[in-house]
Amino acid sequence: MKSKSELILELKKNPMPRHIAIIMDGNGRWAKSKKLPRIKGHIEGTKAVKRIVQVCDEIGLNYLTIYAFSTENWKRPNNEPRAVLTLIENTLMKEIRELHENNVVIKFIGSLEGISDSLAQKMDNAFELTKNNTGFHLLVAVNYGGRLEIIEGINALLREKKDSITLEDFPNYLYTKDVPDPDLLIRTSGEMRISNYLIWQIAYSEMHFTKTLWPDFSQEEFLQTIIDFQRRARRFGGI
Ligand code: IPE
Ligand code: IPE
Ligand code: MG
Repeated sequence: MKSKSELILELKKNPMPRHIAIIMDGNGRWAKSKKLPRIKGHIEGTKAVKRIVQVCDEIGLNYLTIYAFSTENWKRPNNEPRAVLTLIENTLMKEIRELHENNVVIKFIGSLEGISDSLAQKMDNAFELTKNNTGFHLLVAVNYGGRLEIIEGINALLREKKDSITLEDFPNYLYTKDVPDPDLLIRTSGEMRISNYLIWQIAYSEMHFTKTLWPDFSQEEFLQTIIDFQRRARRFGGI
C-alpha cells in the first residue's frame, strides 16, 4: 500500500466527500483472536477512532459520523453495554480538550433513554463547548437507532399538530438536522448489513465493506477507501 502522504496527495486531486459515516464493527472478534476480554477490543477501538479523526482533520473532511453504541446493543450479556458506555464517557473526558483545541465540533446523536445522567451531561457539555468551532464535525452515534430516530421525528411533528410534511422538511426532525447526507458509508469486520444505522440518511450513500476489524483499521486503508470512492460514478437515478 502507498504511504499516507502519497495517498493524501492523490486524494487531493479530486473533490472530497463531505460526509463519511462509519459502522465501527469487529472489536469483539479482534479481542477474541488475541484471547483477550471483549472490552479490550473496545479499548483498542477507541485508538482507531483517534487515528481516523486525526486524518479526517488533516484531509479537511467536513463531517464524520461514527456508530459507537446502538439501541440494539442493550441485548448484550455480561454488563457489556455499561462497560462500553463507561468507556465512551472516559474517552470523551480524556479527548475533549484536544478535540476543542483542534477546532472540532463534537455532537452526539441518539436517544437519552437508559443513558446515565453523568454521560448525558458530558455529551451536552462537549457540544456546548465546541459548537462554535469552525473545524470538522464529529458526530458520535450513542444509543442510536435509525428507526427510533424516525419515530422520534414523527412524534415531534405530531406535537406540532402538523398534518403533513414534505420530503425536504422531514430531515429537520432528525438528529442529523443541518448535516448533509453521508456520501460514503464504511463498515468494518466483513458484515454486510446496515444494523439500523442512519437508515433515512444513507438512501443514496455509496457503500464500502471491508473485512478489516475496527481496531486494525488504519489511516492508509481509510484514505484508499476515499480514493476508491472518488472513482465511482454516482447517478442518483439519472444517467
Ligand atoms: C463494535 O464491535 C462495537 C459495538 C457494537 C459497541 P462489536 O462489539 O460488535 O464486535 P464484534 O462484532 O462482536 O466482533
Ligand atoms: C453495529 O454493530 C453497532 C455498532 C457498531 C455500534 P453490531 O455488532 O451491534 O451489529 P450486528 O448486531 O452485528 O448487526
Ligand atoms: Mg459487531
